[in-house]
Amino acid sequence: MIDQRKLPSKEVYVRCRTAKDVARAIRTMVIRGAPAIGVAAAMGVALDVRRSRATGTTQLATEFYRTCDLLAATRPTAVNLFWAIERMKRVFAGGMRLQALIDAEAVRLHDEDVANCRAIGRHGAGVVPAEARVLTHCNAGALATGRYGSALGVIRAAVEAGKRVAVYADETRPFLQGARLTAWELVRDGIDTTVITDGMAGSLMRAGMVDVVVVGADRIAANGDVANKIGTYTVAVLAREHGVPFYVAAPLSTIDLSTPDGSGIPIEERDAKEMTYMGASQLVPEGAAVWNPAFDVTPASFVAGIITERGICRPPFAESLKHVCDGNQ
Ligand code: MRU
Repeated sequence: MIDQRKLPSKEVYVRCRTAKDVARAIRTMVIRGAPAIGVAAAMGVALDVRRSRATGTTQLATEFYRTCDLLAATRPTAVNLFWAIERMKRVFAGGMRLQALIDAEAVRLHDEDVANCRAIGRHGAGVVPAEARVLTHCNAGALATGRYGSALGVIRAAVEAGKRVAVYADETRPFLQGARLTAWELVRDGIDTTVITDGMAGSLMRAGMVDVVVVGADRIAANGDVANKIGTYTVAVLAREHGVPFYVAAPLSTIDLSTPDGSGIPIEERDAKEMTYMGASQLVPEGAAVWNPAFDVTPASFVAGIITERGICRPPFAESLKHVCDGNQ
């Protein structure tokens, strides 16, 4: 997998041979983004099933569930991780020709995610005006998914449909997913991209320079509350104040109907060092306390629509999300 910590200055790859390698890669943000984390975890499970030297089903099952637990303990917020592991467990319970089935399921999960991103793009392109300035936060692109992206999938599909799209990418402190990753992806695609610091979004909207906001999600509760990268809530509040529609693009694997609302979504807190240091440079003096939640929750009332592979869910989300998850278009 490409090492996302090193982009955009270096394109280096990390080879994972075991689930432990994959777990480390997820924890340390070599790979990040909700759908990509889910796909990586499924591949991690498959790697360990391949390597297993278990002599009986009991030993194999013990190893398998230990591997699942290891991967599940990497990051708590993105529900795609747990969804993917559950899918692998269902195949494991299925029994025969295990290794081939587990391999196939991991690959299927990846391929489905790519197809879902394309479908999200098709449905979402309609919310982007013919000439549009789109603000996005964090990175919900190819790097964060199987390929193509969710929020960036919407932007890519709008561009492919012939719309003139200019993107504002919030830099997204402290890990800089917007400045480093979103800008890297979009510039490679030849899409007009301007990076702003997170604190500039308000002035940009006040100047009338944003037509629509599209972001990804890590977990969407049954009532439509959305957990996404820290700072997303700020963008949503600003969008409401300035009358800019705020859309969330995410596959169904990000919707968690078992969590009634955003208050039940676990929010990961990451190491203070991500804020206090930039590479080797110290940014914050010793002695200053630091709070570093990686995600926030945007209440459903701020969201104009949730763009999924099966279409756009509109308020009231308690009904539309259930409807779409039940298999309805
Ligand atoms: O901490 P990260 O970089 O994994 O957070 C990623 C995000 O918040 C993305 O917006 C979200 O996972 C959607 S990715 C399609």
